[in-house]
Amino acid sequence: MQALILAGGEGTRLRPLTLTRPKPAMTLVDRPFVAYMVDWVGRHGITDVVIACGFGSDAVRAALEDRPTPTIAYVEEPEPLGTAGPLRLAADRGLLDDRFLVLNGDLLADLDLSALLRAHEDHGATATLALHEVADPRSYGLVRRASGPTALGERPSGPGGEVLEFLEKPAPEKIDTDEVNAGAYVLESAVIDLIPRGRMFSIEREVFPRLVGRGLYGHRLDGYWMDVGTPERYLEASWDVLEGRVRTEIGDRLEGARFGVAEGADVESGASVEAPALVEAGAHVGAGAILGPRAVIGPGSVVERGARVASSVVLADCRIGADAEVEESILAPAVVVGERARIQAGSVIGEGARIEPGAEIEAGARLEPGGVAA
Ligand code: GDD
Ligand code: MG
Repeated sequence: MQALILAGGEGTRLRPLTLTRPKPAMTLVDRPFVAYMVDWVGRHGITDVVIACGFGSDAVRAALEDRPTPTIAYVEEPEPLGTAGPLRLAADRGLLDDRFLVLNGDLLADLDLSALLRAHEDHGATATLALHEVADPRSYGLVRRASGPTALGERPSGPGGEVLEFLEKPAPEKIDTDEVNAGAYVLESAVIDLIPRGRMFSIEREVFPRLVGRGLYGHRLDGYWMDVGTPERYLEASWDVLEGRVRTEIGDRLEGARFGVAEGADVESGASVEAPALVEAGAHVGAGAILGPRAVIGPGSVVERGARVASSVVLADCRIGADAEVEESILAPAVVVGERARIQAGSVIGEGARIEPGAEIEAGARLEPGGVAA
């Protein structure tokens, strides 16, 4: 059985990070985002993975190049085919069995996919959607199902049931349940017949509504689940990995210490590091620097003396000058921050950008790749 990962979206809300590399190839904590997904399905015995991508496919391939176990096939779309079109393409190329999993490519999750498969089999379903309860259901696909909650905040009477209605991002007044489409599906190959060839087609808007009453089930899964589609959620996901709120390989390795200095990293004795934090191989942290709480310093990055990095992710090969400050922000690879510069909360700095010494970057700023801020 395969897991097909939809990895061809543009990642608009994560710009400028996604201007230079696609979302699945972006590093989260210590590895490319898509690697968490490959690990996740691997824990449920699935080692046959199909990655559907268009934009940035070379980077996605490179990101997975040294993964040890799974068999990975790539489907490259000449034009974006939406969330359903890639399934048709993969099926036409003989890459999918009679039953397969489909996953949105921006999920950090440890939901029990084996339980989803069992529910699918028990119902003899055509398609089974993983459902998850979220605090704010507004930006998701909303699913009403038999034995599900019928009012916001109400507990469902059972974990699964037939889907009665699928509404992709409905108007706020239509939202009456907090169970949403978690972007993980078990499908029978019969679903492929509903998808036309060679054009953009949406599984949420054009396939699931047509499957209602024809073997479409939903199954609620508790556990950790996050759509890592915005800078805020990217940071939150990073801390959740380090603090072990989601089951991941790196989290297991840190074993609750929530703090790691990779072999080959150099943290000078006068530096202070407060967990959760990770300093990657080849990184250097100078005396008097203050990291954390909550910091990731990517491989090869340098934090000079007296600099402070808090609640922030500094990706590979960056340089944070002496006495500079980075607060609740994300720095793409190869960013240079001059001495005494200050990057305020909510900023996202594009790859290779330069911030001049003493510059003040206002809260919520976006700096394009290669850009200069004085
Ligand atoms: N290959 C390919 N081609 N992948 C695509 C394309 C495309 O043309 N368009 C989008 N994708 C991928 C994205 O990369 C992402 O992994 C996934 O499809 C879903 O797209 P998003 O743009 O992230 O959708 P969303 O987050 O607004 O909504 C979806 O996910 C929610 C859960 O996170 C929907 O499936 C909702 O129903 C769901 O609740
Ligand atoms: Mg998404």
